Amino acid sequence: MAENKTGFSSSFGAIMAAAGSAIGLGNIWRFPYICGKYGGGAALILYIAFVFLIGMTLLLSELVIGRRSGHAAIQAYASLKPKRPQWRYVGVLGVVACVLILSTYMVVSGWTLNYFWESVSGALSSVEDGDYAAHFGAFASSVTAPVACLIVFAVLTLVVVLGGVQSGIEKASKILMPVLLVLVLLLCVRSLTLPGASKGLYYLFHPDFSLLTWEGVLAILGQALFSLSVGMGVMVAYGSYLPKGDNLFRSAMWITGCDTAIAVLAGVAIFPAVFACGQSPEGGPGLVFNVLPVVFNSLGSVGSVVFGGAFFLLLAVAALTSAISLLEGIAAGFSESLHTDHKRTAVVVTVGLMVLGVLIALSFEGGVLSGIRLADMTIFDWFDKLSGAYLPSICALLTILFFGWFMKKDDIEDELSNHGTVRTPWFKVFYYFLVRFVAPLALVVSLVAGIWGE
Ligand code: PHE
Repeated sequence: MAENKTGFSSSFGAIMAAAGSAIGLGNIWRFPYICGKYGGGAALILYIAFVFLIGMTLLLSELVIGRRSGHAAIQAYASLKPKRPQWRYVGVLGVVACVLILSTYMVVSGWTLNYFWESVSGALSSVEDGDYAAHFGAFASSVTAPVACLIVFAVLTLVVVLGGVQSGIEKASKILMPVLLVLVLLLCVRSLTLPGASKGLYYLFHPDFSLLTWEGVLAILGQALFSLSVGMGVMVAYGSYLPKGDNLFRSAMWITGCDTAIAVLAGVAIFPAVFACGQSPEGGPGLVFNVLPVVFNSLGSVGSVVFGGAFFLLLAVAALTSAISLLEGIAAGFSESLHTDHKRTAVVVTVGLMVLGVLIALSFEGGVLSGIRLADMTIFDWFDKLSGAYLPSICALLTILFFGWFMKKDDIEDELSNHGTVRTPWFKVFYYFLVRFVAPLALVVSLVAGIWGE
């Protein structure tokens, strides 16, 4: 049963922190592109169904496991099933997934800091011949700038985590999340008022079911899980910090709702401007570092400073609150199971991640370490592949099986209803069915299909 430890001070702070984890690079550079590519409105409807029915089911189960046990990932599962300590390996898997993701995430987030600086200093608008692909290639394959940016980003993340749950993570999230909302709204207004913006809205929202392929369905499901930060034990750690009186279902709805709203707004901020400027849609680093600078450049010198700066700040803020949750998930997981000091553990983990990060950054295409290859893939490619691959799905599947088939139903209901004080009529009607059958089946299908498709 949960022991007392310092947690979030209010429901609002807790929701901001968890939404901060969920809202990350994925919302901005992947979600809108996936939507457009796989059928606009058709993909959006499916995404909403997946994120609320499957993603939120997983989110809620992680929050319950965390709050009920009072522990972060590695200890949580085993402490709820003391006779079967091997369940701790589910938490270990989650922490390994966090390490893989965060080391790559920090490198890319560092790039966004560099681009923020280049936007506000005006350097980005004076790139030779407007050849942004070459500019990005030269930057990402150099040594000093990417490594320096990685270190700055890692230190920022660490400083917040060292501040503690209330004065670090909660406080930072309560400031950064409203900033993020203002930035995305500002960009939406600019994008929507450009001549020709409607083509972008058509791309994003016009439902075309013929584009919704099987591959698209899998990509949409994967995005729904990644976007809610589930399958890595991060939400278990945050669950253990949730106030006891919080209505977990309501918090999970808020987190999922905020995450989805920002993803849709990011699409509205990006694609109308991309189409208005005659560029073709893309996703990932190609969109952010090659296509969007062309769009910002077309807005004139002040426009490119203001809107380019706002966009890269938006990315950096979204990345920072996600990175904070990943670092906290790792540090809390390790410090609890190894009985080490939380802050010292966070420092050691960050140093380790920086070393990994430097190896990853320098092995990007054309970089000094890009010659080191295994099976024709660089270190960067390997980390990118592994972090996006099966680990989170396996961890999510084991979590939902643990929750649905191994935890006592009464205990779950007790936690969700705050010992009977909150009504939970939905629990028996559909939630338990989703937990036991629908979510595991969806995860098995996506895992099998993913492995099959390799
Ligand atoms: N949800 C974040 C995003 O959309 C990524 C993330 C995954 C953050 C797992 C924390 C844990 O970018």
